[in-house]
Amino acid sequence: MKQITNDIFYVGVNDRQKHLFENLWPLPSGVSYNSYLITDEKTVLIDTVEIAYVDLFLKKIEEVLNGRTLDYLIVNHSEPDHAGSIRILRQYYPNLQIVGNRLTFGMLAGYHSISDGLIEVKEGDTLTIGKHRLTFYMTPMVHWPEVMVTYDETDKVLFSADAFGTYGALDGGVFDAELNVEHYWEEMIRYYANIVGKYGNPVQKALQKLSLLDIQTICSTHGPVWRENIDMVVSIYDRLSRYEAAEGVTIIYGSMYGNTEQMAETIASAMAADGIKNIVMHNVSKSPASYILKDVFKYKGILIGSPTYSGSIFPKIDSILKMIELREVKNRLFGYFGSFTWAGAAVKRLATFNENMKWELAGDPVEMKQSINAETAEKCIKLGQAMAARFVN
Ligand code: FEO
Repeated sequence: MKQITNDIFYVGVNDRQKHLFENLWPLPSGVSYNSYLITDEKTVLIDTVEIAYVDLFLKKIEEVLNGRTLDYLIVNHSEPDHAGSIRILRQYYPNLQIVGNRLTFGMLAGYHSISDGLIEVKEGDTLTIGKHRLTFYMTPMVHWPEVMVTYDETDKVLFSADAFGTYGALDGGVFDAELNVEHYWEEMIRYYANIVGKYGNPVQKALQKLSLLDIQTICSTHGPVWRENIDMVVSIYDRLSRYEAAEGVTIIYGSMYGNTEQMAETIASAMAADGIKNIVMHNVSKSPASYILKDVFKYKGILIGSPTYSGSIFPKIDSILKMIELREVKNRLFGYFGSFTWAGAAVKRLATFNENMKWELAGDPVEMKQSINAETAEKCIKLGQAMAARFVN
């Protein structure tokens, strides 16, 4: 049993079994589904866990309650990784009152056939449960439309739903101070890029709203409870939601037989020769999209290369282009290159992509017929130098 404050307990679980979050995104170091229980004159649970862990979850709740009943469940977020255990929880505690907003209740009805024992809250409403007073703030689209956060003004704890979350199970500790948090920073960027990345403006609105609160502890639904690193996690979410990026270049390429790859290598060498150290190369056939998106959010420069495939672009490149378009990534420096054997199409698709993204072109695109020669290599070097010049004074 892990205590967050005198009256707040951690009752979440680690998932080290699932391979893919949302059946899409790899989880090499797992993920946690965080849930919190407040014991006051009333007992209040904030969010639940994925259904696969309901048995362990119920045992943790019972241990903290120590014979008391559960009075309220606050549903900050209805996605099944947090709401999956609601129906069984209700069967276990039939008098449980469920607190949510109008949109929450639509999802409760649709996913769990629950439509009674509900307490609807709106922006700024409060629930007093004894000495703790909880206030609700709507944070739509961080990451679903019904999302809200709950602020305990007594202990100055923010229950933030997915906001400030990260991949990575909790290896022993729960608080950031108990953990080596270094690996969470990259995982936080990857989580953001994969899950929340499309919703930069809603995240900005939420951050502005929450900046008015005195927050001493952040209890997210994924990853550590933040206490010592609050400024750090808020700044990461702020930077990512503004689409601000670090100095460096992500090269994303597809290559069937290594010819387009030689273009990528030539461009990368030219950038390195001009002093760029942060170069990340992703062979799209090997790198999971999850990690490619992480670096698209992380670095300012993006170079994409593709062979022509059946009169179109290489399918795996097309897929990553669509993922980037979906997330409406802004303010990147872009360059592109591609190849063909008898008729070019990939470079045309990359030009259309850039029209959609409205990114700034760092250098001239390079199109290659069949394999690299001195002339094509020179064009690739020029593209690399042009990108590097944007970063090196
Ligand atoms: Fe962790 Fe949007 O659910």
